[in-house]
Amino acid sequence: MGVWGRLVRSEELFERAKRLMPGGVNSPVRAFQPYPFFTKRAYGSRLLDVDGNEYIDYCMAYGALLLGHAHPRVVEAVRAQLENGSLYGTPSEQEVELAELICEVVPSAEMVRLVTTGGEATMSALRAARGYTGKRKILKFEGCYHGAHDSVLVKAGSGATTFGVPNSLGVPEEVGRNTIVVPFNDAGAFEAAVKAHRADLAAVIVEPVIGNIGLVLPQEGFLETLREVTEAYGVVLIFDEVITGFRMALGGAQEYYGVTPDMTTLGKVLGGGFPIAAFAGREEIMRIIAPEGKVYQAGTYSGNPISVTAGLATLKYLRQSGRDLYAELSAKCQAIVEPLKVAVADAGLNLQVSHVASMFQLFFTEKPVYDYASVKTADAARYMRFHNSLLREGVFLPPSQFETCFISAAHSSADLDKTVEYIFSILERGVVN
Ligand SMILES: Cc1ncc(COP(=O)(O)O)c(C=O)c1O
Repeated sequence: MGVWGRLVRSEELFERAKRLMPGGVNSPVRAFQPYPFFTKRAYGSRLLDVDGNEYIDYCMAYGALLLGHAHPRVVEAVRAQLENGSLYGTPSEQEVELAELICEVVPSAEMVRLVTTGGEATMSALRAARGYTGKRKILKFEGCYHGAHDSVLVKAGSGATTFGVPNSLGVPEEVGRNTIVVPFNDAGAFEAAVKAHRADLAAVIVEPVIGNIGLVLPQEGFLETLREVTEAYGVVLIFDEVITGFRMALGGAQEYYGVTPDMTTLGKVLGGGFPIAAFAGREEIMRIIAPEGKVYQAGTYSGNPISVTAGLATLKYLRQSGRDLYAELSAKCQAIVEPLKVAVADAGLNLQVSHVASMFQLFFTEKPVYDYASVKTADAARYMRFHNSLLREGVFLPPSQFETCFISAAHSSADLDKTVEYIFSILERGVVN
């Protein structure tokens, strides 16, 4: 009998998986105690597991699925493209169309290179910035996650924080030494660090809204400070919009906050559920990429016609829907967080409710959350009790206090109402105290 009572097949699969794959999974964030459910199908706002249980999904593949699972527009476009081949190894017309669309809607994008994963995008953007400036060091913020490559696996969020390895083994010390880490939302510490390292500082990389230690918003003026200081010292400012791109607004966080970086990394929503990512930026910087320039970057699956087709279908749908869709997504998020905020204020619930656009997270702490240290005051075990109780009711939140919940266009008001009802019932029953 499965521990959850009704996850029998998932438990069996996890036992088999653990013998074959480290931790039984292919990405650490998917593992949780005592074992994760295994998904068989996904549609709209729902996941269906191998035991036949259905869940309202607020993980949405860690933010990738803004339109929901298996959106008909995306499915149809990809199905048609499959008949015409899945990988060409030559340029295609669709790539040009997608590049045009990205450069049209993302304020900082004058030129773009398509890659396959968000980690590849940040790795390449950082290399481009180093090549462009001829400098070695980069600056990142504590708790920001930029993918699983050496120079950014320092004080990293997401699974690295959940599993207690924000500084991974296997990253050579000399690589780590070139990564300067500063607390998020600390404009003074940031300016001082840039000044101190200016002779050798190539780039500043930041998630404009952190989605990888739960959800942490930039305080007023913080992003503007990043822009002013980097400009003053000739440092390349990279917004890692792998989560926020096309989600906070069509033009991402940079459109939402009105701050334009030099370079931007994109992924997740861009592919509508297919593997594609991109880095983009000022033409002068982007022309340093091979074969035009001397910074090497390449990939067999870069700009593959399946992912590009899915991306085009997604972005065209988003452009066509315009601001109405973003207003609708934001209203859906409000439908979940507003009753909670009222309860926190009126009943003194020991919670922080963080939200913006179609993203939210609850933190089990009495302290306001604004950076890595304040987020770490949250009781991660309590969050998991809350998570597991919701799972039993058929609601799937990301399985870590240090991840973010995502709303999609496919979530119905009935989904949202049910979710709020379950959340209150769990909190009232004191299950998570
Ligand atoms: C902000 C941010 N950057 C980069 C990445 C890495 O993307 P990928 O997992 O596609 O390599 C992630 C993944 O969660 C992310 O949230």
